[in-house]
Amino acid sequence: MDSQVMPREQLGVCAEGNLHSVYLMFNANDGVDSQMRPCVANVAQYIHDLADQFADSAFNGFVAVGANYWDTLYPAARPCQLKPFPAMNQENRDAPAIEYDLFVHIRCDRFDILHLVANEVCQMFEGLVELVDEERGFRFMDSRDLTGFVDGTENPKGRSRQDVALIGEEDAAFKNGSYIHVQKFAHNLSKWNRLPEKKQEDIIGRTKAENIEYASADKPLTSHIKRVNLKDDAGKSMEILRQSMPYGTVKEQGLMFISTCRNSVNFEKMLESMVYGDNEGNHDHLLHFTQALTGSSFFAPSLDFLDKSA
Ligand code: HEM
Repeated sequence: MDSQVMPREQLGVCAEGNLHSVYLMFNANDGVDSQMRPCVANVAQYIHDLADQFADSAFNGFVAVGANYWDTLYPAARPCQLKPFPAMNQENRDAPAIEYDLFVHIRCDRFDILHLVANEVCQMFEGLVELVDEERGFRFMDSRDLTGFVDGTENPKGRSRQDVALIGEEDAAFKNGSYIHVQKFAHNLSKWNRLPEKKQEDIIGRTKAENIEYASADKPLTSHIKRVNLKDDAGKSMEILRQSMPYGTVKEQGLMFISTCRNSVNFEKMLESMVYGDNEGNHDHLLHFTQALTGSSFFAPSLDFLDKSA
């Protein structure tokens, strides 16, 4: 099919889960924009090509451009809903905004490949950027968060991953691009692990060992599931595609939460519902056990947009 009609998505936006991940957050040096555009396109194409080369290890990834950097890099046009991370704070529930200019997200079932590629990507960007943050994610047990609960169960499946995560005709210039929100959550595991299992389950809204969803009537209004399961004005489920993975070391560990979506509203509404809660003040009690250290907003354009804009 003609690429004018169907711009190619970056494969990591909708990819299935992997065993390992590397997250690289960069800020751009001043005055390098004309060199940066072809470089971003090359890095995205390099990652795309590696997905074929290392298909047996399910390599994938994407490059995303920060909301605050977008207009510097691509002044001609901006995705309709691209805006800075919606920072929020209520009592001791904090969702701070920490923005970066570029986010390179790579995943694979072989860690050695990721390490090689991360080094190569940094080499390609040499002189143009500063590497500001780096984390490595891993699959924990049977795709569990470090709280011990399976994470990702209710994610969109099959082709509906694309329907949820990729822009369609509603913003044709950015078709097959995706809004990306990232929050690095550090868990207080010693506090969490002191909770009896039933209390943990009430906070998530699912059972721990068997991962069974609570019946609707049994879900506390303060449970995570209850707070993020939202409908729009037309009664349609508001969905995101989560690409989160556990990260860290014994000193600091938690969830690298990553949302990909064809709009930026769904993520923002969910986060509001977690932090601010409903009209009765029922907020997400998971937030008593984890703290968002960062909050960043990006856009992952199609490969064709990056090529054309290089
Ligand atoms: C579901 C963990 C943050 C949105 C879940 C589930 C777990 C979980 C265990 C249940 C299994 C599943 O369906 O995946 C966490 C942890 C977080 C976190 C540990 C941070 C420390 C967030 C944030 C959002 C979010 C920030 C969005 C703003 C969702 C959604 C679901 C979900 C949409 C599916 C709900 C459903 O349809 O049942 N999360 N989550 N999560 N989470 Fe989170």
